[in-house]
Amino acid sequence: ASPLRLGIAGLGTVGTGTVKIIQKHAAMLSSRAGRPVAITAVSARDRMKNRDVDLSGYAWETDARALAVRDDIDVFVELIGGDEGIAREAVTAALKAGKDVVTANKALLAIHGQELAELAEAHGRVIRFEAAVAGGIPIIKTMTESLAGNEIRRVMGVMNGTCNYILTRMENAGLPYETVFEEARQLGYLEADPTLDVGGIDASHKLALLAAIAFGAKPSFGAVEIEGIERVSIDDIRRAADMGYRIKLLGVAQMTGRGLEQRMSPCLVPAESPLGQLQGGTNMVVVEGDSVGQIVLRGAGAGEGPTASAVMSDVVEIARGVRMPSFGQPASELATPQAARTAVP
Ligand code: NAP
Ligand code: HSE
Repeated sequence: ASPLRLGIAGLGTVGTGTVKIIQKHAAMLSSRAGRPVAITAVSARDRMKNRDVDLSGYAWETDARALAVRDDIDVFVELIGGDEGIAREAVTAALKAGKDVVTANKALLAIHGQELAELAEAHGRVIRFEAAVAGGIPIIKTMTESLAGNEIRRVMGVMNGTCNYILTRMENAGLPYETVFEEARQLGYLEADPTLDVGGIDASHKLALLAAIAFGAKPSFGAVEIEGIERVSIDDIRRAADMGYRIKLLGVAQMTGRGLEQRMSPCLVPAESPLGQLQGGTNMVVVEGDSVGQIVLRGAGAGEGPTASAVMSDVVEIARGVRMPSFGQPASELATPQAARTAVP
């Protein structure tokens, strides 16, 4: 069978992790996909950077937009990041050029997901994003495929490992927010712009994607009510613990009589519950379906291996010839539900 030819743009944490899996498991992937999975070209800004992976067999493009439209790729794998600029331009160019797209970019999809999914469908292409939500946890395929027979009642979870690390470390070590925030920075956990983590924005991008799939709605990051963890004090955490609770940055999406509610905020959860027990950088997503009841998925929400694992699930799906719509149904059929706001202005 002809190989599925990949162009990988972005060779940071997730990009190099993806290259490593393809190099390490070439025979296994070929067998599972029914055809070889081959990288033909890669792209990043700095060609001279040491990336701890052998890239010598691949063509190089410094401009990801040039990689996206190369004749010798079938799938454009976008692992750059950012909701505007190069990532958006390259993904758009790839779809218009007839390439399928795999991305880990939650910001791009949470803001432009509808338009990109429609563009993909107009060109007979797919755009898949398993790695964009909760890293290695296979929540997108669980919801779009495994739970396809369910009406989803609610989806919620802890979807930012950095915030969960900060909150659990504050509780376990009795340290104030500022000290632990600085620790997280030194450990390299924080995004380049830490507001994305502690301001709840990164987790809200993920929640908007899950809400879109769960409720057949256009992804709408702007409709998420967001409160980050910056104002959580050690006293708040101690008082919660005294009552048998823990504070978690919890995202909740549910359809109410007033419309679609999407909330990301520090919440009290019972200390003995699965969410309360969640320690460190781990993520957890809870889905409630009308037939299946409640299911809980837990695992690494970030990092090279887990996130690349999710990227590869999309690559293998495409290699097998599976053509799943991005949000579980055609983009043109996604609704624009009323946003149910709960916050007091
Ligand atoms: P990263 O380590 O910062 O890597 C970004 C890569 O993009 C770098 O290789 C960089 O090139 C390249 N790049 C940046 N601007 C570029 C441009 N203008 N043209 C071409 N290449 C450019 O980022 P990451 O952590 O791998 O994240 C990648 C994506 O995965 C993001 O959307 C992120 O949100 C998502 N994600 C990450 C994780 C995680 O655990 N890290 C988890 C889930 C999802 P240079 O190396 O030359 O600078
Ligand atoms: N900054 C994110 C987190 C990375 O801490 O969960 C994964 O999206």
